[in-house]
Amino acid sequence: MNELSSTTRRTFLAATIAAPAILRAQDAPARLKVAFIGVGNRGGYLLTQMLKVPGIEIVAVCDLIPERTAKAAAEARAAGFKPAEYEDFRKMLEQRKDIDAVVAAVPVDTHLRVALGVLEAGKHIYSEKPMGLSPQECTTTVKAAQSAKGIYQIGFQLRHDPNRAASMAFIKSGGIGKVLYCQGYRHTHDLPYDEPWLFDKKRSGDIIVEQACHILDLMTWAIGKPPLRAMGSGGINLFKDIPPGRTVMDNYSVIYEYPDNVRLNFSQIYFDPDGFSGVKERVYGSEGAIDLAKAQYGKLDHKGPLTQLDVPNAGQAPEVMSLKAFVDNAVNGKKPLNDAESGRISTLVGILGRTAIEERRIVTWEEVAG
Ligand SMILES: NC(=O)c1ccc[n+]([C@@H]2O[C@H](COP(=O)([O-])OP(=O)(O)OC[C@H]3O[C@@H](n4cnc5c(N)ncnc54)[C@H](O)[C@@H]3O)[C@@H](O)[C@H]2O)c1
Repeated sequence: MNELSSTTRRTFLAATIAAPAILRAQDAPARLKVAFIGVGNRGGYLLTQMLKVPGIEIVAVCDLIPERTAKAAAEARAAGFKPAEYEDFRKMLEQRKDIDAVVAAVPVDTHLRVALGVLEAGKHIYSEKPMGLSPQECTTTVKAAQSAKGIYQIGFQLRHDPNRAASMAFIKSGGIGKVLYCQGYRHTHDLPYDEPWLFDKKRSGDIIVEQACHILDLMTWAIGKPPLRAMGSGGINLFKDIPPGRTVMDNYSVIYEYPDNVRLNFSQIYFDPDGFSGVKERVYGSEGAIDLAKAQYGKLDHKGPLTQLDVPNAGQAPEVMSLKAFVDNAVNGKKPLNDAESGRISTLVGILGRTAIEERRIVTWEEVAG
């Protein structure tokens, strides 16, 4: 199930349940030994967040760019760890048999290679979203995860965001009645121009797969089933060849039809001036509607202000919550909320929308999911 021996697992559990006032050296709690592969924008941020998670030790950091490795390793050292530095993740996995778990935040076209390497080495992996570039890559990843010793958790951290988690619990308890319609958009001019791979759709999967997948994941979770079909339209209207060679869209709209006559309307644009930007995640039901990100709902027959849900862990960063869950899942052999199969489905929802836009036709779920 996991890499910790039963003795260290018991020690870990004892330490996390009730830490004794004074620990002798030989009683020091076992920590999950974590390595990072890819410490660019996202991996660097995740490392900072991982430092807030109890019960871990950062033992290695790996990136193709040595300056990034050095910077991330220095941050881990400042927190009291002694990470080794690597450029080659295969060498790291070969040399450091003590690694229990890996956090991987590499470009999308590298997800499959890294995930397979880590899972085949018997480690747990927290792998950034989306799962891959194509349905085939997703299927291969899920198969590897199913037969692996370690767990696979995908970086759809918004499932662990306190507000979204409370909203979802409310929906699942019937709080808005039957889910009828979802509306989402991501109108944000926030593309990181220091990541050339992101603008090449062959490497990123295009923005609907690379970025919108978070909201598509939440909406599909709220509806509880994958879509039946999608139609859409999109292109590059303003940022032609910006940055040079750009192949990812700067705007699109897509409509998904889900079972039971449920629809999701989603759009994304990058030419939103200040004051026009925003992210929206709304789910409408037969008795009311909810804003997932705000955890606020309104009843259909209610004329007053929106109701704010009680939110456990309010204010906690989704990444910290997601990484805490990863450590707990790895140590205790639990199935992640954002496991491989849910990651495959949400990635395929993005690929379905992209295919409909590219091919200017209605595309069915069977065509992408097989
Ligand atoms: N969950 C989220 O909210 C979220 C947010 C941003 C990015 N991401 C995802 O994180 C991933 C990384 O994105 P980013 O913004 O950090 O990109 P980035 O370009 O800033 O960083 C990627 C890093 O991976 C390194 N790398 C590439 N191939 C490698 C290899 N074989 N071995 C070791 N290191 C390698 C690169 O040198 C680079 O430093 C992408 O999948 C992206 O979609 C997720």
